[in-house]
Amino acid sequence: MTTINLRAANATGTRADVLVIGVATTSDGLVVPGPGTAVAAAFGRGFEPTLSSLGFSGKQGEVAKLPSVGVVKSSLVIAVGLGDEEAVTPEALRRAAGVAVRSIRNSSSAAFALPSTDERDVQAICEGVLLGGYDFGTYKSEDESAAHRIETATVLTDLARNKGVKHSLSKAVAVSEAVNRARDWINTPPGDLTPALFADAVAALDAPSRVKVTVWDEPRLRKEKCGGILGVGQGSQNPPRLVQITYKPRKPVSHLALVGKGITYDSGGITLKPAAGLMTMKCDMSGAAAVIAATFAAAALELPVQITCWAAMAENMPSGTATRPGDVLRIRNGATVEVHNTDAEGRLVLADALCLAAEDEPDMIVDVATLTGACVVALGTRTAGVLSNDDNLRDALPATAQRVGESMWPLPITEEMKAKVRSSSIADLRQHNPEPYGGTLFAASFLREFVEGHRWAHIDIAGPAFNDGEPHGYTPKGGTGAGVRTLVHFAESLAESGASGS
Ligand code: BES
Ligand code: MN
Ligand code: ZN
Repeated sequence: MTTINLRAANATGTRADVLVIGVATTSDGLVVPGPGTAVAAAFGRGFEPTLSSLGFSGKQGEVAKLPSVGVVKSSLVIAVGLGDEEAVTPEALRRAAGVAVRSIRNSSSAAFALPSTDERDVQAICEGVLLGGYDFGTYKSEDESAAHRIETATVLTDLARNKGVKHSLSKAVAVSEAVNRARDWINTPPGDLTPALFADAVAALDAPSRVKVTVWDEPRLRKEKCGGILGVGQGSQNPPRLVQITYKPRKPVSHLALVGKGITYDSGGITLKPAAGLMTMKCDMSGAAAVIAATFAAAALELPVQITCWAAMAENMPSGTATRPGDVLRIRNGATVEVHNTDAEGRLVLADALCLAAEDEPDMIVDVATLTGACVVALGTRTAGVLSNDDNLRDALPATAQRVGESMWPLPITEEMKAKVRSSSIADLRQHNPEPYGGTLFAASFLREFVEGHRWAHIDIAGPAFNDGEPHGYTPKGGTGAGVRTLVHFAESLAESGASGS
């Protein structure tokens, strides 16, 4: 990742290959707020009209490049749109920094002259630089990413003089490393990230102190009665794994359990998916990637919250050994489940992991999963659904997400779905909704059966986990790392309130 320095220097005299300035809109036209003001002044009165004639209107997402011809030290100035001057939020800054970074070519250093009024703004700018600069170059023979890579970024802000601002930078680095790590795992081709390879990769990470990683293989999963994970994994040549990560700070104020869906590839199994749905299904371990990366970040930041993280990893494949529609699986807590559709596999692996999480009696359980296409139908590709058995938690998570620039929205778990989940004629539970409506609610209602008596929330990231379209803001194509920032900030807010997240 790029190295970031914070500096309270004058933008015009800053030595960097590229100088980025933020341009906002007002009713009177364009303005250049913050440390960019001096840059606009150095160009003289013609600056804003020049931007306009380049077709630049100051909207979010816009960039314009201007050779500086000696007016400032950097040879290139990049103007990036901030939108309405009155509404330059941390997320607007994060996106602007990301857009600017993505537009930079063949430069090893860049300075960012964006306005910042507090430390949250500084953290957001740094995150935008680090997240927007992400590039998955592992499988390219010629390193195209080298043309994009910035070695050092200087973030210009008067707040650099404040002592506390260093912590904002450390937070941005820890969080961005976690998001980019999740992205790498999601983008890795599924043949190179089988359950065993994924588990090995987690175990091989440099663990911060007080972190312990434990991997359960297939025999151990059998011994521990994890019939959901085994049932989903049994069709594949690549056996399943369960990864447990514990982070135990010295004086925890709260104990948070995180659970992630880690389907390294979801073909649908015997209920095989149609061709169009198969291409992106390497992303089906995004929930596991998010909870693992967030746990490591929380530990790196030494947050005083105990975290127990459970990642259920399996490959969902059709074969002669695969679970069939009609089979019955026995989950760790003894509940039997009639399988109707082997493509609804996520809830089966989560069931075992949720049982395990609940056995520790944590203060609350949060699971993250690319669980249902229905959630994408309901909320689109950029918003995650939040479903919970606790009203406070269901509202706290979207609020937390909003503070870090992620989008989550509450959905209900209804009585109607509870009855449907319990309507199997031969087993305790029915795995799949008998009708094609409310799939996200049914799935959450199924999961709720395994966390009775515990405060629990489920985050369905089927939409935002993977960007199938063009890059935007600081979001690249492919794996996005959705959920990581919300989880880390949620743990941080538990640490601050010392309470239970309500
Ligand atoms: N992994 C999918 C859900 C998904 C869909 C993730 C789109 C990302 C993008 C999940 O395992 C699945 O196949 N769900 C089925 C459930 C159905 C069979 C009840 C779905 O949504 O169609
Ligand atoms: Mn599926
Ligand atoms: Zn799936």
